Amino acid sequence: MTKPPHEVRSLSGEDQLRDAHTLFRSAMHDPRVDDELWAFVLDSYDGATVLGAFDDSGMIGTLAATDSVIALPGGKVVPMAAVSRVGVRADRTRRGVLTSVMRTFLEGVSAPLASLRATEGSIYRRYGYGVATRYRKVQLDRTARFHDQVQAAGEVRLVQDQDEVRRLVPGLTQRFGAARPGGVILSDGYWRLTLRREGFVRLVLHEDGFAVFKTKHVGDHYGHRLEVLALFAATPAATVALWSFLRGLDLVDTVVAEGRPVDEDLDLLLVDPRACRYTEIEDETWLRLVDVPAALSVRAYGPAEPVVLEVVDELLPANSGRYLVGPDGAERTDRDPQLRLGVADLAAAYLGDRPLSRFAAAGRVEVADRTALADADRLFRLDEAPWCGTYF
Ligand SMILES: CC(C)(COP(=O)(O)OP(=O)(O)OC[C@H]1O[C@@H](n2cnc3c(N)ncnc32)[C@H](O)[C@@H]1OP(=O)(O)O)[C@@H](O)C(=O)NCCC(=O)NCCS
Repeated sequence: MTKPPHEVRSLSGEDQLRDAHTLFRSAMHDPRVDDELWAFVLDSYDGATVLGAFDDSGMIGTLAATDSVIALPGGKVVPMAAVSRVGVRADRTRRGVLTSVMRTFLEGVSAPLASLRATEGSIYRRYGYGVATRYRKVQLDRTARFHDQVQAAGEVRLVQDQDEVRRLVPGLTQRFGAARPGGVILSDGYWRLTLRREGFVRLVLHEDGFAVFKTKHVGDHYGHRLEVLALFAATPAATVALWSFLRGLDLVDTVVAEGRPVDEDLDLLLVDPRACRYTEIEDETWLRLVDVPAALSVRAYGPAEPVVLEVVDELLPANSGRYLVGPDGAERTDRDPQLRLGVADLAAAYLGDRPLSRFAAAGRVEVADRTALADADRLFRLDEAPWCGTYF
């Protein structure tokens, strides 16, 4: 019997984790992990599943995943494996290493869903991941002023002490981070590392939300650019209060947020809508339905006639089959399929980012019954865009 070119194993212990992390950072062209940073990085691996691929030369690939949760349409918050730190040693790419690692990983996941953020758009579809949330960049110019009818309510408090910021942010994200479908809650260790990496940041607290930001000096005078690193609010009034505090800070020329919901209409709040610019819509959540029957039955659906979906999953064939999906839930069925689609496209439609009819128009759903397509749109529809707002 020929020996497989590499084998995939579970990693544990600080030395193996450090090797895996160094391999990952090196694949990202940044292999520096000094001892001080490593303490935070190690902390962020707490409870993680970490896999390594090995051949005769040592470790050649890695992937890590932490137990997280994600908010679904209907409000349930369910377990989700948050995948990150995927990398293959540069002298071993394009030989199927990630394919082996991802297969081993997905076969071992107990959560119904997994998700990740992708460095490149061409990597993950083949493993059944689809783009389930998107975000856009927003920039508020110096002239941005909120009009008189805008209702901001509640006081804000600025926290500058870095120990207090680090102590408060993890709890705040647990409280406000999963308000929208697509929102996730990550570990305290993840936040400790992220805040350490960002350097000096400030926190604005409101009773119904919070924002984390940093400012950078730009230009010759006293002008600054303000970068919003996170902003979560449970009410429109809190959203306005936080944005208006950020925009109102003295000596700030521009306020920029890289990853805001695609339906956050800041322009409607402004006297001059052009003082706000939306640019660069990008993919945010790459979602994988690891257990299709469980995932389909746990989300809520809108009012419509049930439809029969045939799902095709080449990597995890136990997921393949027909599902009757309706307002009362989802179950396997023997009925004739009305719509047929791959598991990556089902994942892309799952949180309600875009209706299935648009996937059909793009040739990604086979339609045997057109009325079923209209019903599927009503079933999967969401009134607000799903969004996460946390990069991991
Ligand atoms: C992305 C990465 C992990 C892929 O690992 P890999 O072992 O080369 O992937 P595989 O050999 O298993 O690839 C499987 C298929 O995906 C394709 N593929 C993989 N990575 C790709 C990429 N970056 N661009 C285009 N195609 C890619 C391969 O060509 C292969 O296609 P084939 O089956 O038709 O031959 C590796 O390229 C890497 O470490 N990149 C730098 C770090 C990075 O971007 N990590 C991802 C963090 S989200």
